[in-house]
Amino acid sequence: MTDTPPTTGADGTRPDAAQQRAAVRERYSRIATESSSCCADTGSCRESSTASPTELGYSDADRDAVEGVTDLALGCGNPTGIASLDAGDAVLDLGSGGGFDCFLAAREVGPAGQVVGVDMTPEMVERARENAETSDAPNVEFRLGEIEHLPVADESVDVVLSNCVVNLSPDKPQVFREAFRVLRPGGRLAISDVVLTAELPADRRHDPASVAACVGGAASIPALESMLTDAGFVDVSIEPDADSEAFIREWDDERDLSDYLVAATIEGTKPATGTPQ
Ligand SMILES: C[S@@+](CC[C@H](N)C(=O)[O-])C[C@H]1O[C@@H](n2cnc3c(N)ncnc32)[C@H](O)[C@@H]1O
Repeated sequence: MTDTPPTTGADGTRPDAAQQRAAVRERYSRIATESSSCCADTGSCRESSTASPTELGYSDADRDAVEGVTDLALGCGNPTGIASLDAGDAVLDLGSGGGFDCFLAAREVGPAGQVVGVDMTPEMVERARENAETSDAPNVEFRLGEIEHLPVADESVDVVLSNCVVNLSPDKPQVFREAFRVLRPGGRLAISDVVLTAELPADRRHDPASVAACVGGAASIPALESMLTDAGFVDVSIEPDADSEAFIREWDDERDLSDYLVAATIEGTKPATGTPQ
């Protein structure tokens, strides 16, 4: 890891795209590396252990099924819980981290299905591949790449999952265009992410560390709805999860971030004709 994360945006305002990517990579590289030890302090999108898998919506059975990977469950929801996956589905996880959601999805799609996780942090992909070896998941594959430029063929995916990652992207409309490209006609998005409910204080929006911690880059529900419909998705639905207030409140020692953010499920469908409407 050679990038040094900036401490402020170039013009004293928002970090630019390169600064944002550097801060995000640095953070998740560190988490992937440090959580190799027994005593890492990681959990949810934050580094402090504030959200248990149960708070994120995972069942005991989910945790038992993917035992050993929960220390790298860094999301803010449970996208497989809303995805209604079928046996044989091809699934893509945007920003797959340690692979927790990929391994859950793999159990649902079975040996006839396939799950691909894409992540831009090499150390995180390495951890996910190690987890795949110990999780006996032959139908799961992890690829290094950016979700704005997916290393995935056109119209090859039935369901796109993502868990607390789109907020981290400096180009969210491009993420949704790419998701649309790789989905088969009739394919679906099932995303968990944080969304803005009120404008964040400038210091949180402008701090690359806050952006990398799933706070500063969050978008509002109307903004996300526009991005999704502009990309071509129909039946767009974004539903806040009021229960997330409890763990989001723990994300910041100085402010109650639940005044500004809520976790939400984000769904949409690529029309059966496959062309943007
Ligand atoms: C908050 S963690 C979530 C990981 C995983 N989805 C989970 O629930 O445990 C964010 C992950 O997304 C990856 N990421 C962030 N921005 C990305 C981008 N633009 N392209 C690819 N991966 C990205 C990071 O490297 C990190 O592993």
